[in-house]
Amino acid sequence: MKPSLLYSLLAGLITAPILFAQTTPAPMPTTPATPPLYLDPSQPVDARVDDLLKQLTTSEKISLLHADGTFSTAPIPRLGIAERWMLDGPNGVREEIQRNGWNTAGRTDDFSTCFPSGICLAATWDPALARAEGEAIGEEARARGKDIMLGPAVNIERIPLNGRSFEYFGEDPWLAGRIAVDFIRGEQSRDIASSVKHFAANNQETNRNSIDVNMDERTLREIYLPAFEAAVKEGGALTVMAAYNKLRGEFCAENDYLLNQILKKEWGFKGLVMTDWGAAHDTPGVALGGLDLEMGTHVAANVDYNTYYLAQPFLDGVLGGQYPMTLLDDKARRNLYVMIASHVLDGNRTTGSINTAAHQAVARRVSEGGMVLLKNDNNALPLDTAQIHSIAVIGDNATRLQASGGQSSGIKAFYEISPLAGILNRVGNRVNVTFSQGYAAPAPGRRGRGNNAAADTTEATALMDRAVLAAKQADVAIVIGGLNKNFDTEGSDRRDLKLPYNQDELIQRVVAANPRTIVVFVAGSPIEMGPWLQQTPAVLLAWYGGSEAGNALARILFGDVNPSGKLPCTFPKQLADTPAAAFGPEAYPGVNGEEYYREGLLVGYRWYDTKNIAPLFPFGYGLSYTTFKYANLKLLPGDQSKGIWMTAQFDVTNTGTREGAEVTQVYVHQNQPALPRPNQELKGFLKLSLQPGETQTVTIPLGHRAFAYYDPDKKGWLAEAGDYKINVGSSSRDIRLTDTFHLATPLLVP
Ligand code: GLC
Repeated sequence: MKPSLLYSLLAGLITAPILFAQTTPAPMPTTPATPPLYLDPSQPVDARVDDLLKQLTTSEKISLLHADGTFSTAPIPRLGIAERWMLDGPNGVREEIQRNGWNTAGRTDDFSTCFPSGICLAATWDPALARAEGEAIGEEARARGKDIMLGPAVNIERIPLNGRSFEYFGEDPWLAGRIAVDFIRGEQSRDIASSVKHFAANNQETNRNSIDVNMDERTLREIYLPAFEAAVKEGGALTVMAAYNKLRGEFCAENDYLLNQILKKEWGFKGLVMTDWGAAHDTPGVALGGLDLEMGTHVAANVDYNTYYLAQPFLDGVLGGQYPMTLLDDKARRNLYVMIASHVLDGNRTTGSINTAAHQAVARRVSEGGMVLLKNDNNALPLDTAQIHSIAVIGDNATRLQASGGQSSGIKAFYEISPLAGILNRVGNRVNVTFSQGYAAPAPGRRGRGNNAAADTTEATALMDRAVLAAKQADVAIVIGGLNKNFDTEGSDRRDLKLPYNQDELIQRVVAANPRTIVVFVAGSPIEMGPWLQQTPAVLLAWYGGSEAGNALARILFGDVNPSGKLPCTFPKQLADTPAAAFGPEAYPGVNGEEYYREGLLVGYRWYDTKNIAPLFPFGYGLSYTTFKYANLKLLPGDQSKGIWMTAQFDVTNTGTREGAEVTQVYVHQNQPALPRPNQELKGFLKLSLQPGETQTVTIPLGHRAFAYYDPDKKGWLAEAGDYKINVGSSSRDIRLTDTFHLATPLLVP
């Protein structure tokens, strides 16, 4: 008899009397079934990943690497792995899209809070606020059943014409990185995986799917990678979205140097690299180039997802010995790592919330905190309703809703308070508010015939005449113009920096009709300003403020909140002053599919400062309803073992009569560098609120990277010994304090 049969008989004999001897059988002792290790949240992530990976079949591993829907991947039910759902975007949860297709799913349960566009968040210079927004969007994403959110979008604003400038965090790598890090920490704290995008050098929309971007190594390392590096190393971004374009001849989604050498090996990235939708082009490329999740290659009603490059073709390659199983395992492991690190498999995963008062408050705070007061002669702002009986609100952007535009970052908002509605909410019960459209703008999706599309129509003339008359008859005129998502949008770049729809003439005539005219721009990228600027007492940049835009604008206009935003991008006087314009079509938009970043490191203020070109409004600029004084700069030696090389310490005093927040900025200039460097570079900042008369001491630590440049020969970041000027100011061109820091010992960090 087999021992096992004997054993079970013996065991039965032993237990039988026990069973029968009792009148009521004692409950069998039930030891809780210990969950498999991969489902045990108390276990280390890597151990859980290893445990799960070894249980997957080869086909199941492959199923993790590609889409099974427009925004979803296939489940593995036998192991408790559900479909993974992902969706845009950087400033809220997009409407539901068809499971297999690009059209709207036509749902009525997919509204979300629209947060201000990325450029507005950057203009707050407030990482804590970025974190709050990330948390809120993470909560809304969980409430909408998402696992991965496709944002933040951190591409550097190389050219102000870039259609997606509004989505991004401006022209400076340090600012973009700080905002990204805290946004991601916030979003991922809500059991969502962020996807920092578009990696890398996706700095224009023109020919974005094919343009081959060429730049030198320092430019890549010092300008276009740092925000991604911070997002991964400090923010802990669990996914990275590879860009459409090529970099030095290879598509980003298949770029071994970018994905394997830099992102995964140098930076130690353990998460997954996904494509932008449709950015994969061949199996060997994506298999060997570092891609881990292929999305959007084919999006249609009857698509066969097995035709994706990382699906059957890759499986065939693995089974046929063309690719080692270790390659497949690494890709699968990365997908499992993201799942487990974002608690997808944990029973106590957050369930989120949506359109809460808290989320609405965050949206309003970001909009308020990001608005930039560009001009305010004779304290034209804030408006005092005790002195005002009538306001003429003028401009298509006073009523136009912006949330849903711009393509993938568009939001089907529960609500969106327009500027006019915000003004009426705030003062409509005590001030006579009138509205004139002033200019006609085409419906979303159409740009009209350039800047003067409506200039030669009788309707346009009538609209403008009515607006000018309304301005003349009111105590105050508020022109609310700027751009819209026909210009600030994914998929195309602007043709120029001018105000469309003949707004220059409108503003000129309104200011002539009423010297108490305020100009408000709703826009996401720089605008050239006409001769009206000199005669206009106040100009406020409101960006795209999201659901609470109108309420935030009204609170700024009527002084409930003091504006504190600072420009995250330079406003040049004219397009011809911009770096890319200086080097012709090869530099932008590219010639025959090739583009060369000839300006190198000199992007944004780095260009204008180094070339001594006066901008219209400089990087870091923004006025307040109060004033600030800087004093007592001290450069305190830091503890290099803790990564702090020097601390800039200085006092800031609110010398005005009302509370206000100031963004103190620290720029570093190296005297006599061995290699060319920009005149100065932002290496630290701090936003602080001060009561009237209050003084606070600010300390801003500077680490190795604050002094270092990337040395392509030494393949590392070199902080040379020598003297560095530390410039402390209220903008890149408003330096209030400066001192020199001597670095005695050079340091090269790989
Ligand atoms: C788009 C965008 C990207 C977005 C993706 C999915 O092409 O470039 O930002 O996340 O497709 O909508």
